[in-house]
Amino acid sequence: MTRARPRRRAPEVPTVTDTQPASPAPQSGGGSSPSLENLLREKRAFPPSAEFAAQANATSDLYEAAKADRLAFWADQANTLLTWKVPFTETLDWSGAPVARWFADGTLNAAYNAVDRHVEAGHGDRVAFHFEGEPGDTRTVTYADLQREVSKAANALTELGVRTGDRVVVYMPMLIESVVAMLACARIGAPHSVVFGGFSADALRSRISDAEAKVVITADGGYRKGAPSALKPAVDEALTPRDGQASTVEKVLVVRRTEQEVDWTEGRDVWWHDAVDGASDQHEPVWVEAEHPLFILYTSGTTGKPKGILHTTGGYLTQTAYTHRNVFDLKPETDVFWCTADIGWVTGHSYIVYGPLVNGATQVLYEGTPDTPHRGRWWELVQKYDVSIFYTAPTAIRACMKWGDDIPAGFDLSSLRLLGSVGEPINPQAWMWYREHIGGGGAPIVDTWWQTETGAIMISPLPGVTATKPGSAQVPLPGIAADVVDDEANVVPDGSGGYLVLSEPWPSMLRGIWGDLERYKETYWSRYEGLYFAGDGAKKDEDGDIWLLGRVDDVMNVSGHRLSTTEIESALVSNDIVAEAAVVGAADETTGQAVVAFVILRGEHADRAATDEGAAAVQTELRNHVAKEIGPIAKPKRILVVPELPKTRSGKIMRRLLRDIAEDRAVGDATTLADSSVMDKIAAGLKAPS
Ligand code: WTA
Repeated sequence: MTRARPRRRAPEVPTVTDTQPASPAPQSGGGSSPSLENLLREKRAFPPSAEFAAQANATSDLYEAAKADRLAFWADQANTLLTWKVPFTETLDWSGAPVARWFADGTLNAAYNAVDRHVEAGHGDRVAFHFEGEPGDTRTVTYADLQREVSKAANALTELGVRTGDRVVVYMPMLIESVVAMLACARIGAPHSVVFGGFSADALRSRISDAEAKVVITADGGYRKGAPSALKPAVDEALTPRDGQASTVEKVLVVRRTEQEVDWTEGRDVWWHDAVDGASDQHEPVWVEAEHPLFILYTSGTTGKPKGILHTTGGYLTQTAYTHRNVFDLKPETDVFWCTADIGWVTGHSYIVYGPLVNGATQVLYEGTPDTPHRGRWWELVQKYDVSIFYTAPTAIRACMKWGDDIPAGFDLSSLRLLGSVGEPINPQAWMWYREHIGGGGAPIVDTWWQTETGAIMISPLPGVTATKPGSAQVPLPGIAADVVDDEANVVPDGSGGYLVLSEPWPSMLRGIWGDLERYKETYWSRYEGLYFAGDGAKKDEDGDIWLLGRVDDVMNVSGHRLSTTEIESALVSNDIVAEAAVVGAADETTGQAVVAFVILRGEHADRAATDEGAAAVQTELRNHVAKEIGPIAKPKRILVVPELPKTRSGKIMRRLLRDIAEDRAVGDATTLADSSVMDKIAAGLKAPS
C-alpha cells in the first residue's frame, strides 16, 4: 500500500490468481498450517466409543430430520431450546436476500433466556460461573446471583440514559461484570459492541464512532501476565475530541478491578459499584422482536476498515444453543464447560455468554493467560473445577505442546470427556497431542469451523455420531448447507480443493455490516450468485469430508485472531518514515501465521536501516507504532526494510512472492512482475540480518 490513502482495493474479493498459486489450493504454506499434501496423507479416523454414543445428545436422527424438512427442523430447535414471549409463526423470510429474517414475528429476550428462566425452573442455585482471577481470587456466581446482578445493571444502564436500540461499547477484561454488562444490554434491548481489551485507544475510537455508542463500560484494568494492565486510559484517549469531532459517548461506567489510579471526568465517568450495587434487583426484560439487534462485533476484513458484524436475537440464540448442546454434548446438570476464548471475540460471545447460558451450563471463567503464574495453570483449573468439556484454539494447543508433555501430566485431567478446537485449521500433529495428553486418549475432539459472520458453529463432527479425523472439521451440521466450489461455482468432486461456500441461509447468520449494506453484499455475496463466500479455502477428501485450508483473501489468522493485511499496511504508512508497506502472513509454528511486513522507507530516512542497529531501531519504532494504531496483537513479528516491492504491471503487489521470502523459500514464478529484477534487489538487501 502506498501513502495515497484511502485507496480501495478492487476487487475486494481477490481472484485465485491474485493471491494464490494457479490451482485453487489456498494459502497454507509450510509450518504448522496443514498443507494439502500433508492432509492427503492423513488417513486416521477415530470412531466414537459405544459408551459415549449411548449417552450422546446428538444422534444421526438430527441429520435425517434436517434433511426431511430444513425449516421445520430449525423451527423445532427454536421452540425447544428457547422461551418465547410471543411464539413465531413464520420460520424464514428470505425475500429480502441476502438479509434473512428468522422467526421474525416472535418476541423474546436474550437475558431472560440466558438467566431468568433457569431460576424460574428451580435452578437458581446452580453455579453459572466459577470465576478465577489471574492472581488467584475466586468468585462463584449462581444463576440466581446472575439474575440479580443483570437486573441491577439493567436498571443502572437505564438510569444512565440507555434506551432500547442505543449502542453500548464494552471494553473489559475477563470478569463476571463483563458478562453481566453484556446481558444487561441485552435485557434492555441495547445492542452491545464488545471491543477486545487488547485493542488500542485508536482502534477503540473508530469502533465507538462507527457504532455511535452512547455509553462505554470498562474497568480500571485487569490482570495479565502477573501485573495489572490498565484499560481506562485508552477509553479516556478514545473519547477526547479529534478533528473538532466530539464523541457520541455520554457516560463511562467503570468497574474497579485492579485499583489502579484513574483519571476521572466528572459528569461522564461513573463507578460501576456506585451505579449498580444500590440499584433495584427487580427488572422486567424488554421483549424484543426476534430480528432486534443483539450485538455488533467488529472484525477484520480485506480492506482497512473493520466491519461491524450485526447479529440479531432469535436466530442467533437458536443456533448458539443448538450447537452448544449437540456439538459439546452438554449435560447442564453435571458438566462443567470451559471455553478459553476472550469475550472480545465471537467465540466468547457465542460459547461463554449466549450458547452455554441459554442451555443453563456451569462454566469456568478465567481472567488471565495460560502461563501465569506457571505453565500448568489451565490444567490446574481443569483439575480444580472438574472441567468436563474444554474448548480452545490450536495456537494454544501448540504452545502447550512446546512447553512439554510433563506439564499436563502433572495434573488430574480425568474429568475431561470432550475437547473442542476453533479459530484456525488444527494440524493433525496438534490434534493427536491434544487427544493423547489432554483428552487421555479417549475424549472425542470436535474441530469446529465457523466465523464471526456465521455467529455459531457450522461445520463440525457430532460427538457420538461422527468418526473423527485429525485435522478435519468434516461435516456441515444438521440444518447447515456448506460445500466446496471451484472458480465457476461448480461443486468440486470428492478429493479436490476449492472455496468454502454456504448455500442456504442459517439462523445465526450475520444480518449485515453495521451501516453498510452494500459492503455486506459485495463482500460475501458478489463472488458467487446466491452463495455466501466464506473467504476460506477447503478441500473434500474421498469420503466427502471437508478440510479447511486457511484464508484465501488478505486476511491473516494469527493465534486464531483475524488481522487484515491492509489494516496493518495502513497503520505502517501512517508513520512518517514509511513510504510503502506490504504485509503478508507467514506460516508460524506456534501462532499459525505471523505478521511479516516489508517496508520502503521515505527518501530522507532511507539510510536509517543501513546498519544492523539502525534496522533494529526502525523495526522497534514501527512495531510500537502498529501496536498504538491497532493493538499489540497486530505487531509484525518481522519488519524487513526493502528498496522496492514486487508489483505486477497493473501495480498490484504480488504477496505470493513476499510470502516466499517470509517463509524462507525459493521465490516462485516472478515473470508477471513489471520489473523482474525487483526480487533480486530485495534478496540482496536482506543478506543483512533482519
Ligand atoms: C478460521 C472464529 C479452520 C477461518 C470463530 C475462518 C478455522 C476464520 C476454524 C474466522 C477451524 C475458524 N478450522 N479454520 N475449525 N475456525 N477458522 O471470525 O479462516 O475470528 O474464516 O471466528 O477463522 O475467524 P473469526
